Amino acid sequence: MKIAVVGKGGSGKTTTTGVLARTFARSGHATLALDCDSNPNLGISLGIGEEATERLMSVRDAVDAGTEEHASSADDLVERFGVEAPDGVRLAVVTAIQNPEPGCP
Ligand SMILES: Nc1ncnc2c1ncn2[C@@H]1O[C@H](COP(=O)(O)OP(=O)(O)O)[C@@H](O)[C@H]1O
Ligand SMILES: [Mg+2]
Repeated sequence: MKIAVVGKGGSGKTTTTGVLARTFARSGHATLALDCDSNPNLGISLGIGEEATERLMSVRDAVDAGTEEHASSADDLVERFGVEAPDGVRLAVVTAIQNPEPGCP
């Protein structure tokens, strides 16, 4: 199952996503959270702390600046850029998909 959480700034996206991800993971579901917000602070809600959250942001900045190689696949993205968060959630901060195949998003 894939769930996308969207809405205006301040409408509760990050809070809702954090609660959903942690609840699913605690229930035993393999849970991958992808933060594609322009202000990617989901790491705070997921409990990895400020420093690790900022590190994830800087990875995306590096990919966008071309100093870090774009992930070649979804698996590569999770492997190289994902971090383990409490409750068993895996989290990555993501940027635009290059050459998406039909149905990819
Ligand atoms: N269901 C809710 N009830 C009350 N306050 C909430 C609720 N969800 C989020 N908030 C508060 O609203 C503010 C914005 O939430 P946030 O999740 O950061 O929004 P977004 O990610 O959409 O910008 C935060 O201070 C958060 O604690
Ligand atoms: Mg937010």
